[in-house]
Amino acid sequence: MLSVVVLISGSGSNLLALLQATKNPLFPAKVLAVGSDKPAPGLEHADLYGVPTFVVEEKHFASRDSWAEKLGENISHLDPDLIILAGFMKVLPKSFVAKFSPRIINIHPALLPNFPGAHAVRDALTSGARETGATVHIVDEGVDTGPILAQEAVTVLPADDENTLHERIKLVEHKLLIDTVKFLASKQLEPSKVG
Ligand code: GRF
Repeated sequence: MLSVVVLISGSGSNLLALLQATKNPLFPAKVLAVGSDKPAPGLEHADLYGVPTFVVEEKHFASRDSWAEKLGENISHLDPDLIILAGFMKVLPKSFVAKFSPRIINIHPALLPNFPGAHAVRDALTSGARETGATVHIVDEGVDTGPILAQEAVTVLPADDENTLHERIKLVEHKLLIDTVKFLASKQLEPSKVG
């Protein structure tokens, strides 16, 4: 059984998909806790599933490193096999990545290496791309640069705006995330060897 801590910043639809998957007794992962950098609406999903939550806000710390250290303390005492960034919108400092690597994965709403960064859906639309998608990758010290674990394409429709396209991408992300967690559980979590 893979033990997981999920970090979110927003609505938490990927978190909800994962929590729903864990209701199946055959699903090989358990969510130990959900953390956030703000009082994110998605934390309610964890509450409904009886999963503990924690919020560590950067504004209460003198530096990004001390914020990330506190965030890491909230995670390390749980000793999870895997940390999932599911819409966690802060870039984590090198010290945090070094502490938990390669056991951190991220979900990104584009076919990396295309459209990295915080506005991937908007950037895909602006570029006129006919296809974008979703990626799950191992987090390294860069922004959306780590080894790719899974990807799936999504067609951009002529009538799409940022919202409609993002919602279709999220449906793909939910499935991709669950499949990746199952895959990592089956490999006894050696993402550095499968990335
Ligand atoms: C997802 O599209 C994810 O790829 C991106 O942020 C979004 C989070 O959505 N990093 P949600 O909070 O899981 O609904």
